[in-house]
Amino acid sequence: MDFKHTSVMLGEVVSALNVKPNGIYLDCTLGGAGHALAIGRRLTSGGLLIGIDRDEDAIVAARERLAGLACAVKTVRANFSELDKILDDFSVDKIDGAVFDLGVSSHQIDTAERGFSYMKDSPLDMRMDRRQSLTARDVINFCDEDRLTKIFRDYGEERFAKRAAAAICRARKISPIETTGELVRLIEQTVPRTKNGGHPAKRIPGKSHRS
Ligand SMILES: C[S@@+](CC[C@H](N)C(=O)[O-])C[C@H]1O[C@@H](n2cnc3c(N)ncnc32)[C@H](O)[C@@H]1O
Repeated sequence: MDFKHTSVMLGEVVSALNVKPNGIYLDCTLGGAGHALAIGRRLTSGGLLIGIDRDEDAIVAARERLAGLACAVKTVRANFSELDKILDDFSVDKIDGAVFDLGVSSHQIDTAERGFSYMKDSPLDMRMDRRQSLTARDVINFCDEDRLTKIFRDYGEERFAKRAAAAICRARKISPIETTGELVRLIEQTVPRTKNGGHPAKRIPGKSHRS
């Protein structure tokens, strides 16, 4: 698997952590393991690096990249909301530092069938953890108008959330919205482009898009 992701502010993040060679560090959003690898390289055999991600592709790529580090490495496929339990499972009650690089990886966006991109036409999916059954298709086709408005407004910071939700509810009465392309066309007809906000489909259905 070709997992491409350029880590943001790599030098700054690692320098801010001030890594202790024997410390315990946590990367709660492993992705392509760029931050984790830079931290791991500063740890010795007495150190421990714990990496978490919900996405199986990220875990596979990270295991490969982190192999060969001197420190102990634990990778866990989970939501970081389960952090307490994960630390308990490893008998860790104190850590020296943690990274949360919140958002979507380039790999998730660039892999068309994951359904994150507004630039590639693919089934509406957007699941970070594909063990879960709820997809973006379910949200778009089955959430009521108020719920959609709230999602677009609160998570996508979309000014025209109500207008977009109303258009989706009208369109899906005729036929279900199945693909990112169908949703993008609908949003383009409904939500005006703002000067600095980029493509309006970036903010619907409420995930960021880094292109
Ligand atoms: C921006 S990428 C991280 C990139 C990483 N720092 C690097 O240097 O390669 C964000 C990652 O966080 C994961 N993620 C997002 N929300 C999560 C959550 N609640 N629990 C676990 N992982 C999550 C995504 O699957 C994605 O792989």
